[in-house]
This record gives sequence, structure tokens and C-alpha cells, in this order.
Amino acid sequence: MSGNGNGHGHGHGHERGDDFDWAAMADLLELEGETHSPYVRQALDELKDLRPGRVLDIGSGPGVAACRLAETFPEAEVTAVDGSPELLARAEVRAARLGVRLRTRAVEFPDGLAGLEPADLIWSAQVVHHVGDQQAALGGLARLLNPGGVLAIVEGGLPARFLPRDLGFGRPGLQERLDAATAVRFDRMRTELPGSVAVVEDWPEMLRSAGLSEVRSRTFLVEHRAPLAEGPRRSVRAVLERQRHVLGEPEGLSAGDIGVLDRLLDPGDPVGVDRRADLFLLTAKTVHFGVRRG
Ligand SMILES: C[S@@+](CC[C@H](N)C(=O)[O-])C[C@H]1O[C@@H](n2cnc3c(N)ncnc32)[C@H](O)[C@@H]1O
Repeated sequence: MSGNGNGHGHGHGHERGDDFDWAAMADLLELEGETHSPYVRQALDELKDLRPGRVLDIGSGPGVAACRLAETFPEAEVTAVDGSPELLARAEVRAARLGVRLRTRAVEFPDGLAGLEPADLIWSAQVVHHVGDQQAALGGLARLLNPGGVLAIVEGGLPARFLPRDLGFGRPGLQERLDAATAVRFDRMRTELPGSVAVVEDWPEMLRSAGLSEVRSRTFLVEHRAPLAEGPRRSVRAVLERQRHVLGEPEGLSAGDIGVLDRLLDPGDPVGVDRRADLFLLTAKTVHFGVRRG
């Protein structure tokens, strides 16, 4: 997720010296993608006058949005692009299951971007913040657009909320403390990225600096009400498992909060996330659009 997101890290294994294994996150990414997917449909509604010949989903992960793009633009050649061959294999299975036409391409960002064919629509959700020089990455994406082409970047938005403030045990306000710990981890992740460059994260301005026009941002609310259906509930579990795995005392999470997470994740505990009736899911996704003119 984004800077306010769920503790995602970065990278593709150990060659870049990071601690992150995207392929191991396939289930989380697919579940989360499905749970959030109404926003992708709403964002694509904004582009209903577009008739793209080629579409790229940069950093597609397991292909939830890429398959939606293929469904929305059946005449277009849609390519899911990611650094993880395992995630692209998931995207292929998903496309076959849904009966949509999807190509895949394994590419490392930012260097591999220059080798891609130009496109009329580029979608890239929660990916640019995993590149050291975000402005340069946006410039690279803008250059990949054909004249008149649209870049849609998903960054920012609001962190997900799914827990009541008072769980009935532990110290109230766990969700806010998880967000704070995630922000600490996110900042360290950004600082340690190869070629990390600090920039004012004003996404519309960054799109304009990348040479794009008609820049606008739209935010979409994602809401799943309590009691949660099976899919969103599994997605909440996957997010909390990830947070339990990556967050700890260095990020400011207390031993008491870690104990509460363990209880929430215990399948046998009636107050755990598998069984409690008061879980909900509320988040907001912001999509920044820009057009290449000339
Ligand atoms: C947070 S996930 C987002 C997945 C999907 N776009 C979504 O919105 O659910 C980031 C994706 O970018 C890919 N990625 C991150 N850094 C990358 C890099 N430097 N080169 C290639 N792919 C990268 C990861 O493999 C992962 O699939």
C-alpha cells in the first residue's frame, strides 16, 4: 500500500539487499486487490471515452486490476508488468479463469521500463513509492505514453480501518498505533531504497512535472460493512498477519499490542478476526490522472 498503507515493503529478493519477498505476498495482494476492486471499476468509469489500443498495468502484482482493465477494454492489448514472475503467473491463471485476454511481462523498475512498447493507458497502483526516485519513475511512465495517452497513478488515499476502537480487550486505539508503526517502517523502506530521492509527495504536481496535462485526482471510498463477508474478512486477516510479521518494537509497537494481535489472529479465539461480528472495512483510494499532450 501507500505511505499510509499496510506495511508492504519493496523489492524482489536479496539482490537489492532488501528484506522483501513479493511472491510470498501473493495471497495478500490478490485478496486485498479483490476487496478494494470496486474502486478500480469506478476509476475506469472516469475513462469511459478512452479507446486505448495498448494498456499497461505497471506493478500489476497478481493481476486483479489488470484483469479488470482487460474486461473494460476488450479491444485493447493489455499487459500486466511486474518484477515478480510468480505474481505474473498468478495474473495469468486469474485471466484464464475470468476469460479475459492478458499478456504478462517481467520487468524491473525503473530500468526495465524504457524497453516497453508505448501505450495509450498506463495504470500503476501503489508501485511508484517502491522506486527510489519517484519523480524520475513518473517521468519514465509519462514517456511511455502515446500522445493523448493517460497515466493513472494510485498513491495516497487513506489507510484502511477495520477494527473497533475498543476491542473489548487490550488498550483501545490499536488501529491508529498500527498505522503509526507502519508509517515508521514505510519511511525506513523509502530511505533505504536504492537511489532514494526525497520529494514533496504532491502527486498532482509530480505528474505535471513529468510533463502531463489535465491532471486531476479522484478519491473513491471502499466500504464493506459488518458483519464482513468471507473475502474481505480473509483480507483483514492477511493484512494483520503481515503487520504481526513485520511490525515490532523498532517501529514502536508494544509487547502488549503484539499480544493483542496474537489474540486477534487466533482462529480458536471468539474475539479473533475470524469470528467477531464487528469487523468492517473502510478505506479510500486516490487515483491521479494525467494526459500526455504532444
Ligand atoms: C504494493 S504491490 C501493488 C500491486 C497492485 N498494483 C495493487 O494495487 O494491488 C507492488 C507491486 O509492485 C511490484 N514491484 C515493486 N517494486 C518493483 C520494482 N522495483 N520492479 C518491478 N516490480 C516492482 C511488486 O512485485 C508488487 O507486485
